[in-house]
Amino acid sequence: MIPPNIEEKIGARLLYKPGPLRLIKKKIEDYFSNYHNVGQAFAIMGSDDPYVSVQANFDDLLIPEDHPSRAETDTFYKDAKTVLRTHTSAHQIELINGGHLHFLTFGDCYRKDTVDSSHYPVFHQVEGVCLHPKHEWDTPEKAEKHLKTTLEGLVKHIFGPSIQIKWSTDYFPFTNPSWEMEICLDDRWLEILGCGIIHPDILKRCGADEYYTGWAFGIGLERLAMILYQIPDIRLFWTKDERFLSQFADGDAVFQPYSKHPPVYKDISFWIEDAYHENDFHAIVRNIGGDLIEEVKLIDNFTHPKHGKTNHTYRITYRSMDRSLTNEEINLLQDQIRKQTLQLPVGLR
Ligand code: DAH
Repeated sequence: MIPPNIEEKIGARLLYKPGPLRLIKKKIEDYFSNYHNVGQAFAIMGSDDPYVSVQANFDDLLIPEDHPSRAETDTFYKDAKTVLRTHTSAHQIELINGGHLHFLTFGDCYRKDTVDSSHYPVFHQVEGVCLHPKHEWDTPEKAEKHLKTTLEGLVKHIFGPSIQIKWSTDYFPFTNPSWEMEICLDDRWLEILGCGIIHPDILKRCGADEYYTGWAFGIGLERLAMILYQIPDIRLFWTKDERFLSQFADGDAVFQPYSKHPPVYKDISFWIEDAYHENDFHAIVRNIGGDLIEEVKLIDNFTHPKHGKTNHTYRITYRSMDRSLTNEEINLLQDQIRKQTLQLPVGLR
């Protein structure tokens, strides 16, 4: 069951429309289609249909049965066998099987998540894969070096040559070893991508393990665009407001905020039971409030010393990107949220 507010986003094709995501996509493509940057010209793909099999999204990538990302509280299931892809890694195997050795694949991805200015249930990723003859990358260090140099070149291409870069080891089921890259901006380190050496069992599934070794990476495009263009709120990628779109019509720009409309705050408080999962509450708020929801924040979390029950208080920030809100319309939404929240394993106060 895919909620209507998510379903209506499918097919929006933001990557192909004027705006910051298309600009970022173009920069990544330019870098990877230049043979001199990467030693290969990468094929550029993308799939418009975000429905993929559970097999492709999880099993093929060696993601264990009990991995939290498989839970219904994290992933949108259409039915037992089909999900909205949670990452573009879901296309690795089908593309390698199709004979591609070096490619990028772009796409819209979907995850249930908490609601704030940098998380939205629909976002965009690019996945990159590079396979190389084993006899040339005859030590693990050679593949690692090629991967890291390539990705360092990419972020320098996007953020300029003096950007500071830090690598740390990470864990993903589909790569081993795995790393994350952080970049430093205004004295803060920000994680911007995950990558690693493709697990040999994945190459085996494609019949490619005998001749090839390879690396892969995944990047979230909103995050890159928010950093590069100083876009403060992820909902802006979805606005049709010309005051936003016109700023990116001619290429790169630093976002100039236009008048911000005032927020409306509403708090809601309830006792939670064991089966309560925070993402379910965030999903209800997002479902009902749509793009008027700026943030849902847990502002109080306490467990009663006598009866041991836990109480959560959330502050919901409503703010429209393009108009002022009235208290009456927000009260109507807040009432609906209260009613629907009662369907969760909670007791309203
Ligand atoms: N699929 C991962 C995610 O969505 C990102 C990622 C990490 C992709 C490592 C990769 C990789 O290809 O090697 O968080």
